[in-house]
Amino acid sequence: MNLFKQTVAGTLLALAAIGCAPKSDLDRKVDDLLAQMTLREKIGQMHQVSGGADLFEAAAKGEIGSILNCVDPEAINAVQRAAVEQSRLHIPILVSRDVIHGFRTIFPIPLGLAATFDPALVEQGARVAAIEATASGVRWTFSPMLDIARDPRWGRVAEGSGEDPYLDALMGVAMVKGYQGDDFTDPSSMAACLKHFVGYGAAEGGRDYNSTMISERSLRNTYLPAFQACVDAGALSLMTSFNEIDGIPSTGNSFLLRDILRGEWDFDGMVVTDWNSSGEMVAHGYAKDLKHATELAVNAGVDMDMMSFGFATFIEELVKEGKIAEKSIDEAVRNILRLKFRLGLFENPYVDAQHARAKVYAPEHLAAAKQSAVESAILLQNRNNVLPLDKTRTILVTGPMADAPYDQLGTWAFDGEPEHTVTPLQALREEYNVIYEPGLKYSRDTDTRSFAKVRAAAACAEAVVVCVGEEAILSGEAHSLSKLHLQGAQSELIAEVRKSGKPVIVVVIAGRPLTIERDLANCDALLYSFHPGTMGGAAIADLIKGKAAPSGKTPMTFLRDAGQAPFYYNHNNTGRPCNGTETLLEDIPLHAGQTSLGCTSYYLDTGYGPLFPFGYGLSYTTFEYGNIKLNRSSFGLDDTIVVEFDLTNTGSRDGVEVAQLYTRDLVGSVVRPVKELKRFERVALTPGETKHLRFELPVAELAFWNRDMQFVVEPGAFQLWVAGDSASGTAHPFSVE
Ligand code: BGC
Repeated sequence: MNLFKQTVAGTLLALAAIGCAPKSDLDRKVDDLLAQMTLREKIGQMHQVSGGADLFEAAAKGEIGSILNCVDPEAINAVQRAAVEQSRLHIPILVSRDVIHGFRTIFPIPLGLAATFDPALVEQGARVAAIEATASGVRWTFSPMLDIARDPRWGRVAEGSGEDPYLDALMGVAMVKGYQGDDFTDPSSMAACLKHFVGYGAAEGGRDYNSTMISERSLRNTYLPAFQACVDAGALSLMTSFNEIDGIPSTGNSFLLRDILRGEWDFDGMVVTDWNSSGEMVAHGYAKDLKHATELAVNAGVDMDMMSFGFATFIEELVKEGKIAEKSIDEAVRNILRLKFRLGLFENPYVDAQHARAKVYAPEHLAAAKQSAVESAILLQNRNNVLPLDKTRTILVTGPMADAPYDQLGTWAFDGEPEHTVTPLQALREEYNVIYEPGLKYSRDTDTRSFAKVRAAAACAEAVVVCVGEEAILSGEAHSLSKLHLQGAQSELIAEVRKSGKPVIVVVIAGRPLTIERDLANCDALLYSFHPGTMGGAAIADLIKGKAAPSGKTPMTFLRDAGQAPFYYNHNNTGRPCNGTETLLEDIPLHAGQTSLGCTSYYLDTGYGPLFPFGYGLSYTTFEYGNIKLNRSSFGLDDTIVVEFDLTNTGSRDGVEVAQLYTRDLVGSVVRPVKELKRFERVALTPGETKHLRFELPVAELAFWNRDMQFVVEPGAFQLWVAGDSASGTAHPFSVE
């Protein structure tokens, strides 16, 4: 920064500090409008509803700020007309919807998108979602979900990017950019909403809505970074979460909403509650009634109430009683109006209803959805290179997910249309002579009576493709599970076709990482596809046929058994880490002495390790990492670590590898994770090709919230890995002086 800029910036800061910074045009517009509003009109802006009999009347009186769950463009225009043409101040309504992984063209669930390790593609997908949803009048989506999820029992792991803060941040930023576009006023721009602020994914036992106990340090090191990255990327709104942390529900937590979000991060967007999360503070036992909950939420820094009706009912009284300052209401309404001005809603409140339908399912939208589904599929096993089936002609397709157009869309696909979905069965029929025998009707089906038909059909096929997994309803909100194996008789179906002696390819289509150890033993190849969306079947068929190669990597650790949860790669070490010599149940001698097994941290029945580590995934070829070199062995705080390495495709097919860089801070003022992802890159290689690659990592990115709650790099010894997953590679030492 030159001296002039520094002086100007300094003056602005000083002015801001005394409350007289020059106002931007936007602020002026907001303040002018605010000055004309009655308290009732202000309260109206803070109220969001999902339909209701008196919707039009309320809109005409200026008593509604936003609606959710309406996607009919004619109906949206009608409500908007009531607000814009009939209300005293003509303030448009903000129309919102959960557009989580696509609007009509459904992309893979966010966990699948994370498995692509391809932020550019994820941004493209979010853009498609925005183009399609805004065409119907939706200008605000409740996405991205940034909740770090370390427990696959929690059904909402489907909606986020998994267990890693760095991957989570990159995927979140990609979605924010895709939804919001370059120009917020463009009618195809849709405001993002960062959710759920915060710690919701740490629900005890993986049971949805459950309490969490997260220290401030852990919040800052693990749960907050993705939110901050998205705020820095310009996200326009944020949603408070249902959960409480250490006894304080997020919707009433001013430390989170005022001190961190507004104070430390300078967020000037809008804060909305989750669905009745303000009212639910009563059930938590944090507020004595809805009125008290309203007082707590507004004073904590919430701007808009989703569906508790507390704001609309009680704010006026609370202001009169002096329990809420009118200044706080003004602040909230400023945030809401700012968003409406930013989106250009005052100039452009209506949608072109006649052409809404023409904007969905464009060929480029379907192509992006298919590419996302291709890149999100993870090859977890491929014995004897059974895949791809490029020479096979006749296959048996079986399993309840082979032709389940609704279920493969996954959770939060309200506007997806099964009739537009391409299933694996449909797409495989384009490639092979297919014998189809479903075996089971749906994923929970336990009726094995048609297994005999499957067996007979297998005898006539050269290979068997078994599509199993989870119906959409088994993951997502309020859909937690305590057992994570395949439901119904799906494992039995796999075991049955195994008896045919034909190559068995299992395709798992599910909303979470399931415990599939038993099934791996009964198949040759296993391709894991988190609910892959509209084009999922086409992607799976291309992968099976070898027209595309798998490149997805696990965004969450895959467990051997649900009892291992929570289990994540970036954990702290115990004082007695498992050293790989664990004695398991079957090896324990009778009457063994209490300490004879060694005292390390593992389960007697499942051992220590996961089924597959974070960042893992195979391709149809193999890769080798070589010549890994650091530019130096010792670095100063302002330096950049440059890691160079060669990546070679050592197999005989084209492939894409996600090269990953991990670090470890060996000794800290607080215990540090055993590994942390710092960089990754998708690299395409032809057979035999070597690429010379480099990762650059500023030492500043080794900072963490330390014992004194300062965000610093602590000098000392570190290690670094470059590898194809979080459990491979060799440690390269370096130090920071
Ligand atoms: C969910 C949110 C969602 C909201 C609105 C809530 O139940 O937790 O993620 O955005 O509903 O549909």
